[in-house]
Amino acid sequence: MNKTKTLTYVWSRSIRLFHWINVITISLLIVFGLIIFNSKTLGVSVDAKILLKTIHVSIGYIFAINLIVRLVMGFIGSSNEKWSQTLPFMKGYKKELTDFKRSPKQVYTGHNPLGKLMVLALLIAMTVQMATGLILAGTDIYYPPLGQHFAKSIAVDETQLDAIKPYSKVNVDEERYKQLREFRSPIITAHVYAFYALLALIPLHILGVIIGERREKSGLISAMITGYKFLPKKL
Ligand code: HEM
Repeated sequence: MNKTKTLTYVWSRSIRLFHWINVITISLLIVFGLIIFNSKTLGVSVDAKILLKTIHVSIGYIFAINLIVRLVMGFIGSSNEKWSQTLPFMKGYKKELTDFKRSPKQVYTGHNPLGKLMVLALLIAMTVQMATGLILAGTDIYYPPLGQHFAKSIAVDETQLDAIKPYSKVNVDEERYKQLREFRSPIITAHVYAFYALLALIPLHILGVIIGERREKSGLISAMITGYKFLPKKL
């Protein structure tokens, strides 16, 4: 037993729950997103495509709620959940970065300065995915939160919105439908680019954690399961 180190509680139950729900939902969204992205090549039928989008959006809601809860926790959560402790460029960050460059082996209760940069990049990419995804859900399969609004905007008869179905022309004004497709085009582009960003950031995040653990030897990885890090007694 190492007498200079002690088990210290650093990650609350809510932050760990957020992390693992995020991992599971993003993994599933990537799988379903990739199939939608390659649906033409894969010869996916229209009905199957609608089903894939419905599943993708349903998982997307869980991802979005989880992310919104995390964003709120940044303002009202406890110590390591707060933005002041999680994000770069906050008070004292410059000094933290200088100290980190001088002695990269030092141990952190939360994220190291590079970890904070990664958290920011991941949060931006995820927020873009959430915002664009929630809009697309309305323009394509007419799902909440904006589905009713978009259906109304293309309806020939606004009293028959239920007749408007994905990929169907029933009760749809051709010209306004074309305008809706034009409106959603840059949003799909943003959704796909944020997806590429995540595909690059996720492996970098995992690599950063592995390098961090090899340097710190503080149980960085198990801490996201148990909540406890193995830290020097004086920290
Ligand atoms: C990390 C999270 C996410 C990832 C990695 C992801 C990834 C993708 C990818 C790769 C596509 C295929 C793009 C295409 O060719 O159309 C896609 C499509 C789509 N996504 Fe997501 N997505 C995420 C979150 C969400 C969320 C939160 C929602 C909504 C609740 C959503 C709704 C949609 C919709 C409606 C489409 C179909 C767009 C179309 O009509 O082509 N996505 N997503």
